Amino acid sequence: MNILVTGGAGYVGSHACRVLARAGHEVWIYDNLSRGHAAAALPGRLIVGELADRKFLTDVLREKQIAAVMHFAAFALVNESVTDPALYYANNVTAALSLLEAMRAAGVSKFIFSSTTATYGEPQQMPIAEDCPQQPINPYGFTKLVIEHALADYACAYDWSYAALRYFNAAGATPEGDLGEDHTPESHLIPIVLQVALGQRDQITIFGDDYPTPDGTCVRDYIHVDDLATAHLKALDKLIPGQGLQLNLGTGRGHSVREVLDACRRATGHPIPEQLGPRRAGDPPVLVADSRRAQRELAWRPQYEDLDSIVATAWNWHRTHPQGYESDSGNSARWA
Ligand code: UFG
Repeated sequence: MNILVTGGAGYVGSHACRVLARAGHEVWIYDNLSRGHAAAALPGRLIVGELADRKFLTDVLREKQIAAVMHFAAFALVNESVTDPALYYANNVTAALSLLEAMRAAGVSKFIFSSTTATYGEPQQMPIAEDCPQQPINPYGFTKLVIEHALADYACAYDWSYAALRYFNAAGATPEGDLGEDHTPESHLIPIVLQVALGQRDQITIFGDDYPTPDGTCVRDYIHVDDLATAHLKALDKLIPGQGLQLNLGTGRGHSVREVLDACRRATGHPIPEQLGPRRAGDPPVLVADSRRAQRELAWRPQYEDLDSIVATAWNWHRTHPQGYESDSGNSARWA
C-alpha cells in the first residue's frame, strides 16, 4: 500500500516507517523537520513540507497515489502545551484538520492517528480501558481529543476508516541501534537518566515522592517504540469503512520513577545520582494501560515485556549516539 507518514522523521514515526517499509509498503514521509531529523528518514522518501500547506499536500497525496495516511506530526510535550497552547492548537488541531481536508480533496479515506493517554486526564479506573472517560487536563490532551472527535465524525459522514492509537509512554530504540530518541530540549525520563550515565548531566531530579504509589514516585507504562510501530502496521489491516478503532497501546505493567532509575543503573553500571524535587504540575500519579482490546483486535502483543529490555535498547542508542543524530557523519548505512 502507498502510505504517507506525517512526522516520519520523528521518534515514533521513524520507527514506524522502518516497520512499514520492511513489510513491503511504499512509504512516503511528509515532515517539516521542525522537530524531526532528516537522518532518521527513509532515504529518498522525505518530502519536506508544512501540514498546513493544503494545496501542496493534496498534490503529494495525488501524485504518490496515497491509499492511507499515518499521522505522527504533532507536538507532544505536556508542559509546553500549558505554557504555549497556541502552538498546540495551531499544529495539533488546525494543521491536522487541514491534513484531513487535503485527504478529502485527494480521495484518501484511511487514517491512523497517534493519540495519547493524555486524552484520559486523571482517570479513576486503573488500568485504563478505552471506555474510560476522556477528560484531558492539559492542552496537549485536548488537542489530540479534538482530532479523535473529528475522525469519528468524518468516519460517520464520509465513510472514512480510522484507528486512534493511544500511546502510553513511548520508550526504547530499535535494536539495530541506529534509530532512537533525540529531542531538544529533552524532557522524558529515560533519555534524561541515560544522559546522566553519559556524564552530560550531573544528576536526575525526581519530580515528587509523595504520590499514593508504593514508593511514592509516579508510575507509568513504558511501551517500546517498535511495539508501537508494529501496532500501526497491524491496524492498517483492520480498518473498516465508516468505523473507528480506539486502542490503548501499553504493556499493562506500571513502573515507578525509582524503578526506572534502578533499571538504568543495571543497564549502564553507572550509579546515577538523584535528587528529590517538587512534583511537576499535571503529572497523574499512575497511568497504566489495559491493552486487551489492542491485543484482541490486532493480534498484537508487545515483544518487549520487561523494563530492562526496553532500557537496554535505549542505552544502546544513547551510548552510541551521545549527541543524537548529530553523532553520525551520514546516514548511508542506516537504511541499508
Ligand atoms: N520525571 C522525573 N524527572 C524527570 C523527568 C520525568 O521524575 O527529569 C518523571 C515524571 O514526573 C513522570 C515520569 O518521570 O512521572 C515520566 O515522565 P516523562 O516526561 O518521561 O513522561 P510523561 O509521563 O510525562 O509523558 C508521557 C508522554 C506524553 C503524554 C503523557 C501523558 O511523553 O506525550 O505521557 O501523561 F502526554
